[in-house]
Amino acid sequence: METVVSGIRSTGNLHLGNYFGAMRNFVKMQEEDNCFFFIADYHSLTTHPTPENLFDSTKQVLVEYIASGIDPEKCTLYLQSDIPEIPELYLLLNMNAYKGELERCTTFKDKARQQENNINAGLLTYPVLMAADILIHRALKVPVGKDQEQHLEMARNFAARFNRLYKVDYFPEPTAYNFGEKLVKIPGLDGSGKMGKSEGNAINLIDSPEVIRKKVMRAVTDSGPVAGQEMAEPIKNLFTLLKIVSTLETVEQYTKVYNDGIIRYGDLKKQLAEDIIKFTTPIRERIIELQSDNDYLRKVIEQGAEKARASSTKTMKEVREIIGFRKF
Ligand code: TRP
Repeated sequence: METVVSGIRSTGNLHLGNYFGAMRNFVKMQEEDNCFFFIADYHSLTTHPTPENLFDSTKQVLVEYIASGIDPEKCTLYLQSDIPEIPELYLLLNMNAYKGELERCTTFKDKARQQENNINAGLLTYPVLMAADILIHRALKVPVGKDQEQHLEMARNFAARFNRLYKVDYFPEPTAYNFGEKLVKIPGLDGSGKMGKSEGNAINLIDSPEVIRKKVMRAVTDSGPVAGQEMAEPIKNLFTLLKIVSTLETVEQYTKVYNDGIIRYGDLKKQLAEDIIKFTTPIRERIIELQSDNDYLRKVIEQGAEKARASSTKTMKEVREIIGFRKF
């Protein structure tokens, strides 16, 4: 059993791509490991310093994660902002994080370009806060995607630097972890290879049946199968989605009419939409139920904070001793 940490930025609704990607990772890991999953609400302020709806978006993320299978009894689920030891460790790690390395970070460079009028210190030190999130529990495994690899490398550097500086072997070096090949990649509805919230090609778990039907009916196709030619990418994508939400029989039936050259994409899309709706309906209903169950959510968050703080206060006590803070 290993210690796992992962943070979730509180932006946007979960879509099918998240569900079959990150969520599957989390749900599997909570069965085997000591998992700490949290909502990175401090991190949100690096890009949205005056959020209109910090509470609502945090609540929405919480609700959607629980509805998708994150079980607060099997893992520690909490808010970053409930754990004062995280900013405390962040402050100490900042003393050994260098301007040069932070400025070289590609996510910083991207963000600095995107928000030239708000290149704040929080943005620059984003990787330090992320390292604090991970190191506060002395975690080994971090289930994140490729885009976070550089941040993790920096977390490893900060951990190793701390150990070297204070001549200890205290922080383990965390590594990115995912089930990689075993996870299906969910394509978008616009013919692109990947479903993503910024691409506008996604089906969200919270989407109503009408919205799902509209989105699927608008999905990109081609003018129809041509004998001897390979299936075009957007059609492959529709079949990939069908394989995920439909029965084997349905998939075989549509594969056959495609191969026979008599497929009607309108029929395929109608079927796909109905099967997606069948799949997401129980999740959507659970989301809606949780949204009005503030008592339960409060309990989850309080219990999560308590468990996360037990681990965090222990680490901070030891870190302060290592650095040399002492009582008179
Ligand atoms: N940076 C991560 C992302 O954008 C979110 C995050 C914050 C995180 N702290 C973390 C992920 C700690 C893993 C561990 O997705």
